[in-house]
Formats: sequence, C-alpha cells, structure tokens
Amino acid sequence: MATDTLASDFCVPIPHPTLKIALTPPRESDRDASVAGINDPAVYMNLNSPPYPYTDKDWAEWYAINGGASDANLAELKAIHQEQPPSVVASRDWSTRGWLGQRPWTSTIRDVVDGRFIGNISMGRETFMYILDPEERQRRKDENDKLQPGDPRILWMIGFWLVPEYHRRGIMPAALRTLLTDIAVPYMNAHTVHGGYFENNLASGKVFEKTGFVFETFVPDVFTINPAKLNGVEGKKVGTGIMKWERHSAG
Ligand SMILES: CC(C)(COP(=O)(O)OP(=O)(O)OC[C@H]1O[C@@H](n2cnc3c(N)ncnc32)[C@H](O)[C@@H]1OP(=O)(O)O)[C@@H](O)C(=O)NCCC(=O)NCCS
Repeated sequence: MATDTLASDFCVPIPHPTLKIALTPPRESDRDASVAGINDPAVYMNLNSPPYPYTDKDWAEWYAINGGASDANLAELKAIHQEQPPSVVASRDWSTRGWLGQRPWTSTIRDVVDGRFIGNISMGRETFMYILDPEERQRRKDENDKLQPGDPRILWMIGFWLVPEYHRRGIMPAALRTLLTDIAVPYMNAHTVHGGYFENNLASGKVFEKTGFVFETFVPDVFTINPAKLNGVEGKKVGTGIMKWERHSAG
C-alpha cells in the first residue's frame, strides 16, 4: 500500500496514464457534483438504489451514513495497521487479528490536483437482490451478515459510478483494482466479490471483466425501473448480470 495511505488525509493513488487520481474519503463539498452526476441519464439509468430525481436532501442522507462510516472505517484501519501490518496471506489465521468489514467501505474517486469529485466506489456485504424469493434472499443475507469481519467466507459486492465527463477513460477498472489490492485484500481479507450490472450496461460488465471478474449468472427481470426515469411508464423490468472475483483468480 502506498505510504500516504495512513496520512491524516487518506489517499490511495489510482494508477492512470493521464490523470492524477486517488481513492479518498467522501467530502461534504462533493454534494453539487454528486447530485448533478446522479441526475444525468448516463448514470441514473444504470443505477437501482439512488432515488430519482436525486435531491440535495437525498445526498445529505447518503453523506450522513457513508461519510460517518468512512470516518469509522479509517479510524479502524489505522488501529489495525498500528497493531499489526496488513497481511495478504492471512487466510488460515484470520481470526487472530483485526479486519475491516463491519460496515460498507466507500471511497470517492478524486482528482488529486484540484480535489474535484469524479465518482464513488463502494464495497459492502452482498445483499442478494438477484435472488427473487424474498425469504431465501433474507436467509442468505442474514447468513452472510453474521460472519465476523475477516472471515474468508464473506461474500462482498461492489457498487460504482462516475460523473459522465469521466466515462470511457479507463478510470473505473483502475479504481476497482486499487480498491481490491490496497483495501479489500489486505484489510478485509476479501476472497469472493460479486459485481452486478443491468443487462444493457456493457460498460459496467467490461469494468468487471477487465478487473479479473468472471461471469457467474444472469437473472432476468430483477429490478423494476422507477417510472419517473421513463416518463411515467410503469412496470418496466431489467435483468442483472452477476460477475464474480475470487482471490486466487484475481487479475
Ligand atoms: C460503468 C462505468 C463505471 C465505466 O467506467 P469507465 O471508467 O468509464 O470504464 P472504461 O473507460 O474502462 O470503459 C469500460 C469499457 O466499456 C466500454 N464502454 C464504455 N461506455 C460504453 C457504452 N456506453 N456502451 C458500450 N461500451 C461502453 C469502453 O469502451 C470500455 O471497453 P474497452 O476497454 O474494450 O474499450 C461508467 O460508465 C459509469 O459510471 N456509468 C454510469 C453508472 C454505472 O453504470 N455504474 C455501474 C452500475 S453496476
């Protein structure tokens, strides 16, 4: 991990041929760029969870949760690092040291020259939205949620988006690779990670492919698209592809 990772302004450089970018904590000043980005169809048509239209209030609620979780994660990461430097071969003795993973990890992808917000990437426990039977979905979620941080059996999931002017510049594969290598493996002991994408979102599928994920399954009609995104058209569904990354097969 880069030496500045544990500095007070947490910053993990993302290798990129033309931009100086990094994984950083979310900031309150990201609000306007985030709200404008999520209200762009190139973004909202590919995301399920943010409300639409997306308001300043929605962002404030998001920030209260994820900014707070980020502070708590960073404090924990520093404590873990001081107690015992991270290990990439700790699978067998994982229960003897501390790990991140009680709460989701969220990083903002930021231009480190001018501090500009470029996008977000997060990793949390799998929510199994692709399992259509609600009881089975809840059972799998409860089972996964109760595993202790560091348990190699935890199934993780990734979420990400970039503001449209930064699409198609190879940023997200580099950001995802950095998150896996510098945070998820050494500090979360992640072994298995899912990436889900709407069936028509070729770019997202390619990001996962380029980062060593392999196709796992496709489930049709998982999500009902918010009618507000479709000029009021009700009941339109979209399927999801699920890609899987496993530590031994990581690229
Ligand atoms: C998906 C997203 C994160 C991709 O990140 P990115 O940094 O732009 O990815 P890349 O530049 O590496 O592009 C990935 C690949 O998809 C291709 N691609 C990009 N946009 C595309 C599009 N609209 N249609 C088809 N292919 C596209 C690129 O050409 C590239 O393929 P290549 O390497 O073979 O040339 C970004 O487009 C985005 O934020 N989209 C909106 C939100 C979203 O979809 N989030 C993911 C939800 S699962």
